[in-house]
Parts: sequence; structure tokens; C-alpha cells
Amino acid sequence: MKFVGEHILSVSQFARSDIDRLFAVAEKMIPYANRKKVTRVLEGAILGNMFFEASTRTRVSFGCAWNLLGGEVRETTEIKASSLSKGESFYDTARVLSGYSDIIVMRHGQEGSVGEFAGASRVPVINAGDGANEHPSQALLDLYTIRQEMLGRRKKVDGLRIALIGDLRFGRAVHSLCELLSLYENIQFTLISPKDLSLPEKYLTLIKERGHQIEESEDLHAGIAKSDIIYMTRTQEERFASQDEANKYRGLLRLNQSIYTEFCEPNTVIMHPLPRDSRGEAQELDEDLNENPNLAIFRQTDNGVVVRMALFALILDVAEQIEVSSRDVNWYTERRFN
Ligand code: NCD
Repeated sequence: MKFVGEHILSVSQFARSDIDRLFAVAEKMIPYANRKKVTRVLEGAILGNMFFEASTRTRVSFGCAWNLLGGEVRETTEIKASSLSKGESFYDTARVLSGYSDIIVMRHGQEGSVGEFAGASRVPVINAGDGANEHPSQALLDLYTIRQEMLGRRKKVDGLRIALIGDLRFGRAVHSLCELLSLYENIQFTLISPKDLSLPEKYLTLIKERGHQIEESEDLHAGIAKSDIIYMTRTQEERFASQDEANKYRGLLRLNQSIYTEFCEPNTVIMHPLPRDSRGEAQELDEDLNENPNLAIFRQTDNGVVVRMALFALILDVAEQIEVSSRDVNWYTERRFN
């Protein structure tokens, strides 16, 4: 892909060479994300950050990434606060808002909505999650994290053994991650979920076609035993017909320190796209894992900033100019990115 001026709607747009290019730019962003240096390379540019579904880290890290490149952020949140609630179409909304922005990041509960919006937009649109479909930037930051964690263990993404656990049916982060990982060689996928929440056929077919191994199981303990990465997910209760229906699955698959110690190989990495459901009856990823050094969840969220900065820089065609307007910061800072 060329990146410049392109929409990012699906991970299917990416080849391995595109990922390498993106991650090389992301690494150049570390001093800026670390607040060691500032750059004004996107000075005057406006991000339309449009989130019509709940979000904490995706919305804020996209905004933060844009700010760190020197741009301004305009936020639109909630359908009821926008004219979509008055019956305005995606087409009209996109024509209007793309006149006010240089790029748009959008999340919406309906599958395909961001693609439809992008079709009418006059500026590039990044999909920050469209219903249960895809979440490309999350998968990219997850892959960046996986690569980094594996490097620290003298391993590669090729040959990775990953256990994907929880709501694999509605989890858009998992859908995009599976597809991205399938670009690598010889991945062993262990898919652990209740039967009704298993990974959609489309992804199973794609993974198999690309020559990877898949094992499906409902047994957490056996499934996590031979994994380099455990990727936990939350029951996507907002996608179920009713709360009662979602409640049937809450708390079924829970990882805590004692299960980890008993069943996992030493140094197995624990990931989660977050938010983890920390209410007593859910706890898919128990807080007693917080001090476990293999818990990578906050490294994932930090990595989201540099990966999103890199996406912006490539789409807006400033990746080679970051250093031109760069200078050291002059305030006290002890932040440290890995
Ligand atoms: C995920 C999402 O919105 O799909 N969150 C995120 O963006 N990090 C996962 C989730 O909500 O469970």
C-alpha cells in the first residue's frame, strides 16, 4: 500500500512489507511519545475524532498521537449529540465533517459503517472499530507489542504460539489480529471460547488457507499450557441481544496468578486489548496479575501512541520530515516508553 491519502478500513490492506515500514516509522516516534523531543510537523492540521461508541484508550491515544505531531483535535462523541440522531445520513455527515478536518478517525457500532462513511469523505478515514467487524489500529499495536515482547525473549513472530481467549465471535480486535498474524509463517493458534462465541468461519478459513495450525478448545488450562502469548478478551456484552444473554458467558474464562503459575510456561506474555472487566463476577484477567512482569497490557496501550503517530505520519506524508521541525523539550520529564 502507499499509505499517503489512503483510508485505513481493514487489516486486509496490509502486506508484511507495509507493516515493517509502519513499525520502522513508529520506532522513530519514541522520543516524541517519551516527551524528550517535540515536533510541529502537523501544525495547522485538524483531526476529526469521531467516536459513536464507548472508548477510552483508542480515542485518547489517537488524539494524543495527533497532538504529539503538532496537530489540533476536534472531538465528536455520541450519536445523540450529533445530527445522525436527527436522521442525517453517513453520506451527508461525511461530506460535511471532511470539510472541517484533514483526517477522520471514526468508531461506530454498525459493521461497515466506517467504510460507508469513508466512501463519502473528502479526507482519509481510519476505522477505529466498526461493530463486531474490525479494529485495524488495535491489531497493529498488538502486533507491534508481540514483536517487541518476542524480541525480548529471542523469538520471532514467525512460529508464534498464541492462545486467543474469550469472546472470539464479537471481538473485533481479535478478528483483525488473526488476519494480520496470518501474514506471518507457521503460527499456532489456540482458540479458547465457549462454543457459541467461537471465531467466525471467515477467519478460520483464512488462517487455514495460509497454512497455520488451529486448535479450538473450551478448556482454558490445557489451552494456555504451550503458548508464547495469551491474548484475553472481554465478553462484548454490547453486541448481545440482551444483557441476560451476555451474562451467560461472564466469568467463564478467567486468568489469575495461580492459574498462570500452574499451567503456563515461564515468561508467557499476557495481553488484552482492554478494557478488562474488573467487576467481581467477570474478571477475565484478574488484578492479582498486576505485578507480573509478563503482563504486557500497559505496554500495549503505550505502544498505541507510537503506532498511531506512524499511521498519521505516513497517511499525511510527513514521515520523512519529523526531524525537520524537531527540538528537545524544556520541561521536566521522566516518562519512559519501552
Ligand atoms: C476493544 C474494542 O473496542 O474493540 N477496545 C479497544 O479499543 N482497546 C476491545 C473491547 O472493547 O473489549
